[in-house]
Amino acid sequence: RKRTAVLISGRGSNMLSLAEAAQADDFPAEIALVLSNIPGAGGLERASALGIATATVDHRAFNRDREAFERAMDEVLRINQIELIALAGFMRIMTPWFVRRWEGRLINIHPSLLPLFKGTHTHRQALEAGVTEHGCSVHFVVPELDAGPVIAQAKVPVLPGDDEDSLSQRVLAQEHTLYPRALAEVASGRVALVDGAIARL
Ligand code: GAR
Repeated sequence: RKRTAVLISGRGSNMLSLAEAAQADDFPAEIALVLSNIPGAGGLERASALGIATATVDHRAFNRDREAFERAMDEVLRINQIELIALAGFMRIMTPWFVRRWEGRLINIHPSLLPLFKGTHTHRQALEAGVTEHGCSVHFVVPELDAGPVIAQAKVPVLPGDDEDSLSQRVLAQEHTLYPRALAEVASGRVALVDGAIARL
């Protein structure tokens, strides 16, 4: 079982869905650490309640030196013998240094059907664009924001009368089943990043 760290900045509902899936004996990843850049993030307490080790590396302690912040995170990951990282609502952009260091072992969930609606406020972007279909993507992280090869996606309809809240809830429900499936594919080696593209065994 691949020792996996889940990186969060907030409530950690995706982290929880990964942790719950990983409780099955035949799941190929173990959630060995939940790491937050925000002290007191809701997800930390939820992880502790499941008996998962937690850590906080507060980015504000590094005076905007992103690499120093990432070196501190990297140290915590190394001490915990982490092999795979799943970003789950982790709201810091990573430097090329960190991304290259973890290349092929660093995945993220993004609340849109990439390559549509990168960045933040994806549900608002989708409503403003008037699309009839929206969803979420799990992808390998590359230095360019939200541009990495897509491992898996799930779609939802955009319904008449939707607002950001209703749409985000519909997408989030899909995230909670998509992310464990995608993590299992990567942890088991069925999906890998080879020469910057998705390879399936
Ligand atoms: C999720 O919807 C996730 O896809 C999104 O933040 C939310 C975190 O919720 N991630 C991003 O926007 C990444 N840029 P959670 O803390 O309940 O998992």
